[in-house]
Amino acid sequence: MRPKVSVIGAGNVGATVAQLTVMQGLADVVLYDIVEGMPQGKALDLYEATPLWGVDVAVTGTNDIKDIGDSHLVVITAGAARKPGMSRDDLFQTNARVVGSVSKSIKELCPEAIVIVVTNPMDVMAQLCWMVTGFSPERVMGMGGVLDSARFRSFVAEALGVSVQDTEALVLGGHGDQMVPMPRFTTVRGVPITELLPEDRIDALIERTRYGGAEIVSLLKTGSAYYAPAAATVQMMRAILRDEKRLLPAAAYLDGQYGIRGLFIGVPVVLGRTGVERVVELPLTEEERTYLERSVSAVSSLVEKLDSLM
Ligand code: NAI
Ligand code: 2OP
Repeated sequence: MRPKVSVIGAGNVGATVAQLTVMQGLADVVLYDIVEGMPQGKALDLYEATPLWGVDVAVTGTNDIKDIGDSHLVVITAGAARKPGMSRDDLFQTNARVVGSVSKSIKELCPEAIVIVVTNPMDVMAQLCWMVTGFSPERVMGMGGVLDSARFRSFVAEALGVSVQDTEALVLGGHGDQMVPMPRFTTVRGVPITELLPEDRIDALIERTRYGGAEIVSLLKTGSAYYAPAAATVQMMRAILRDEKRLLPAAAYLDGQYGIRGLFIGVPVVLGRTGVERVVELPLTEEERTYLERSVSAVSSLVEKLDSLM
């Protein structure tokens, strides 16, 4: 039996997640949105492409939340996206209502599902989804680190004139302006970039990574990035659906790791069939720890506001 994936929100990120999932033949896909006809239209269009992509999967669009029932994996992309001048945190009030409500439906309709939260401010929305569903923490996670690391990798490859395939990067912390790109763990064929680039060039790449989302918002003007975010989400989905045991950065629930307890924040995790199978703890320098703490406090200050919404 093919797994069933439901994508909540059929906007730019959700529809592209659906497209990549279908193209890779990863699962049957249900695309849900509140806009009448739109998810049905996108799903039909995707289904009509399946003969061209050579994949046998079902694609269904719906405005009826019950159709997500018994999904193995649910991706939450519903809610507002950033406009120029807005930070991810500015989306908090609006998107907390949306994520709170869809999480309630997920709890009722897909009690065994693994959930990947994409909606911003993502770390806080992952925390909210976990609080509302009451799922065990390994079944709820947020996508941010894979995207931020991909951005860092692409900028490093460009700066050094090497293939992106030879670059690896790691970004820890919340998916916000205080995220923590980690040059020590960012490498070209295993060589840390600290050996390959002067400090000021590395600082510029870190800054561009931190504001990678805003750079795209300022160009698009009407919304935010979606191709790389969707590709990052599908890499996580694939790791889970195919039990790949990939070591990827994701917002995961920490229970004492990195000295943090009771909070979702971006850390390296092993993703497999059961979700977050393991949190990988890296030894951090004092400076890295300080940056991580700064990011944690930015996320915690929003998490504290969740209580007033519950
Ligand atoms: P979009 O505006 O294109 O799509 C959002 C969709 O959500 C719309 O189609 C809307 O009708 C739908 N929606 C709103 N309320 C809903 C509800 N209650 N149930 C179902 N659907 C609902 O936005 P886009 O570009 O797809 O971004 C979606 C979210 O993902 C935003 O919050 C954005 O900030 C976030 N994002 C997060 C990233 C990350 O790395 N974590 C990267 C890129 C985007
Ligand atoms: C991004 O980083 C907006 O979070 C989104 O592109």
